[in-house]
Amino acid sequence: MSRIMSIEPARVRPGGVVDAGLRGKTALITGGASGIGLGIARALAREGVDLALASRAPDPVAVEDLRRLGVRTIGVAADVSREDQVVQMVRETIDELGHIDLYINNAAWAWHRPITRLDAESWARTIDTNLSACAWGSREVARHMVARRSGSILIIGSTAMVTPLYSETAYRVSKTGLMAMMEVLALELAPFGIRVNMIVPGHFVTRMTAGFTGQPLEILKRQIPLRRTGQPDEVGPAAVLLLSDTLSPYTTGAALMVDGGLHLHPLPIYSDDEIVAMNAPPRAPGEAGTDD
Ligand SMILES: NC(=O)c1ccc[n+]([C@@H]2O[C@H](COP(=O)([O-])OP(=O)(O)OC[C@H]3O[C@@H](n4cnc5c(N)ncnc54)[C@H](OP(=O)(O)O)[C@@H]3O)[C@@H](O)[C@H]2O)c1
Repeated sequence: MSRIMSIEPARVRPGGVVDAGLRGKTALITGGASGIGLGIARALAREGVDLALASRAPDPVAVEDLRRLGVRTIGVAADVSREDQVVQMVRETIDELGHIDLYINNAAWAWHRPITRLDAESWARTIDTNLSACAWGSREVARHMVARRSGSILIIGSTAMVTPLYSETAYRVSKTGLMAMMEVLALELAPFGIRVNMIVPGHFVTRMTAGFTGQPLEILKRQIPLRRTGQPDEVGPAAVLLLSDTLSPYTTGAALMVDGGLHLHPLPIYSDDEIVAMNAPPRAPGEAGTDD
């Protein structure tokens, strides 16, 4: 039952921009009305993708803003930590948009606790919201996509997988579990031409991270090779890349770091000036200050 996707050569739009071939497709994005999910939604809207944004409290302002970009957009109320609501979320999206081509599992939350304060409630909420939700959502959209023999799934991970941090036991377990899940889904769905990939964000200032400020944030920025936090809109192009069968026809089971290099966690040995000096272009002979 193996299937080779018919691959259209990428078209180039006026101005030299490569067309991702997503126009007219539909996407369901959990947590799509804020932060990174909204950044992905905006990028997909600019590609002409109709959108369903799922969250506990749909945001009419976000829905309206995306409609102004010329695509059909609906808000879907769902608590993704509840299996029955995830089933309903997928059903409602198909009823409203006709079908789902792209599924972005993005919703998550963090209830950080040091190990001696870890309680059953914060553990269960983290796993239910961040990990189980992806299992239920992927199951529902996979049944739909398998029947249609097409689709693309994108799961949002976290550099918490590769940079262990105090108090993040449950969150890190949930994100590492997503990576494990993504790899199995990629295997199981490949015969149907459905690709499954992951984006691994570093640090972005969003509602989830709004309380992380001051000196800890400054220390973190110094650990990021690009020396700044990310903007949610900077995740959008990476999402378009991985979701597009035109741009990534041969990519499945992959994790793309979008983190300014945070996962490299360089030893803080050199200052920025020293790093720049290492690779500064050699001065021209005779130029002021030259040694030779
Ligand atoms: N910000 C970062 O630095 C960072 C770093 C690494 C990874 N990430 C990942 O990026 C993704 C997006 O996070 P963000 O930073 O953009 O935070 P955010 O702006 O707070 O977005 C989280 C979204 O998830 C939704 N959500 C939370 N619990 C939900 C539930 N039970 N049911 C339905 N929707 C729910 C929220 O909507 P409602 O509250 O309305 O339900 C919200 O739209 C998450 O997977 C996060 O782990 C973020």
